[in-house]
Amino acid sequence: MKINTITICGGGNAAHAMIPIIQNHFSGKVNLFLPFGDEAEHFQKLIDQKKYLTATIGDNKLYGRPDKASKLAREACEDADLILMPLPAFAHEQTLLKIVPFLKEEAIIGAIPARSGFEYAALKILKDSKKEKIKIFGMQTLPWACRIKEYAVSVNILGKKKSVGMAAFPHKITSDLASFLSRALDLKVEPLPNMLTLTLSNVGQIIHPGIMYGLFKGKEKVSYQKETVPLFYQGVTKNIAQRLKGMSDEILVLTEKIKVLHRNVNLDHVLGLKDWLIYSYGDSIVDKSTLQTCFVTNRAYQGLRAPVKKGGDYFLPDFQARYLTEDVPYGLVVTKAIAQLVKVDMPIIDEVILTISKWIGKEYIKGHFLEGKDIKDARIPQNYGINYLEEIIVY
Ligand code: NAI
Repeated sequence: MKINTITICGGGNAAHAMIPIIQNHFSGKVNLFLPFGDEAEHFQKLIDQKKYLTATIGDNKLYGRPDKASKLAREACEDADLILMPLPAFAHEQTLLKIVPFLKEEAIIGAIPARSGFEYAALKILKDSKKEKIKIFGMQTLPWACRIKEYAVSVNILGKKKSVGMAAFPHKITSDLASFLSRALDLKVEPLPNMLTLTLSNVGQIIHPGIMYGLFKGKEKVSYQKETVPLFYQGVTKNIAQRLKGMSDEILVLTEKIKVLHRNVNLDHVLGLKDWLIYSYGDSIVDKSTLQTCFVTNRAYQGLRAPVKKGGDYFLPDFQARYLTEDVPYGLVVTKAIAQLVKVDMPIIDEVILTISKWIGKEYIKGHFLEGKDIKDARIPQNYGINYLEEIIVY
């Protein structure tokens, strides 16, 4: 695998973290594609002034500066061998539509994190643009918790996962690509057998909507002072944990049904929620005895509060937060759509989708089916002409 130039799309928290990490572990060029707002101008200033973007990780500091930053897809992407999209899932398609016409035939594009159903959207765009030789991949989660401190100047990397799963299509590039990404991102990238694993093992779809549901269902109008805003992960009660387990079990039932229907599909990496927490966070969890204790005693989750927005001198739950607007249409609804294809019921997940749809002003489910008026905006396989499980398991 010969990668001389990497283009990073977007200039958010994750892109800020990636620039210095990649530049310290990869000797080729790093370009930025920044069509959004005035992001390109900020990075151009950094390049013109020959300054560095600083990433702080604990006591360490890493420095990096992109070789090129552009608003224009051609300028940022035409040389790229590898394109990384550390973007919210709702920005994937609009970004792909802009860049695909300018990509080299042998380029590789990946979403970090993939969320669910990335391959349906990406492969459709590649097919429509007659660029089917381009390869795609997705990573199961973002490897870091990170926040921009000052735009195009500094970023704090607050935590790093032990290992992150990655799946690619066509599958044969997975192992080489995982080795390359492990070096360039300086972490263990674990090759996964297929992209369906990414969709089913997208735990954000359980944790984020499930905890929001538990914290705010029936308390939608309650206001909070800054210090009384509920803790997000440490706020998981026995009841909330039970609902999260119910959601996770429904996804495991779906996974088992797919395995029964297609015995050669490897879905062994789709773990139950408690097993995933223990696998990903290991010793950060003080008490591993129950799902609830895995949340409330996880040091990596300490002190993080639920998303809220200001309403005068108090705070209200933020129902436009990514935990809902990203993890439902690019997460739970996709999983529900696959369940619908193989006739697996998901009553607990249905209830979470129905409640959250109202909160975010969308309609995905109507009469138990994914026939609501906004379903066209969700990344379900059916929206890309995929109507049979057989078409999904090939990726
Ligand atoms: P961010 O909000 O900082 O990044 C947004 C960037 O995406 C913008 O700066 C812009 O360059 C680009 N963008 C393009 N089109 C956009 C549109 N229509 N709306 C908004 N932004 C658009 O996001 P962040 O924090 O870098 O996260 C990237 C992905 O990683 C998301 O899926 C997020 O859920 C996930 N993630 C982030 C974590 C973190 O600690 N930052 C932790 C775990 C997951």
